[in-house]
Amino acid sequence: MKVAVGFDHGGYNLKEIICEVIKASGNEVVDKGAYRLDADDDYPDFALKVAEEVSSCNVSKGIIVCGSGVGASIAANKIKGVRASVCHDLYSAQQGVEHDDMNVLCLGGRIIDEPNASMLVKAFLSARFSGEDRHLRRLNKINEVDHQ
Ligand code: RB5
Repeated sequence: MKVAVGFDHGGYNLKEIICEVIKASGNEVVDKGAYRLDADDDYPDFALKVAEEVSSCNVSKGIIVCGSGVGASIAANKIKGVRASVCHDLYSAQQGVEHDDMNVLCLGGRIIDEPNASMLVKAFLSARFSGEDRHLRRLNKINEVDHQ
């Protein structure tokens, strides 16, 4: 599976471990930056690039890290077909995919440490949408708005 990743200066500290986890679990990293730490960079630049990769089906999933995960999530959800959320607990990182078909995980580099980031990324990558009727029904209600 291809996984697009993006990091602003608030999330850059987790770039190495997250890319390692993606590769170690047999997946391919599509790196949308930043490519160096720049305290003046802006999270929408990376979040939107990752979201576009997901929206156009160039990748299966995306991971965006800013300081809190909040800005990344707000930006990514503007792009059609993207279902992004901040998940700093294991249950949400897994269930967000299984029930809500979350396709972009947003994390806060100022909130979680490397072991937690690693755990959350593993859970997000290994989870699959259940496809159950009740979840499809709810997703369809969201998709109707997406297509307006
Ligand atoms: C950047 O300083 C910070 O505001 C950003 O990384 C993020 O936390 C926004 O949600």
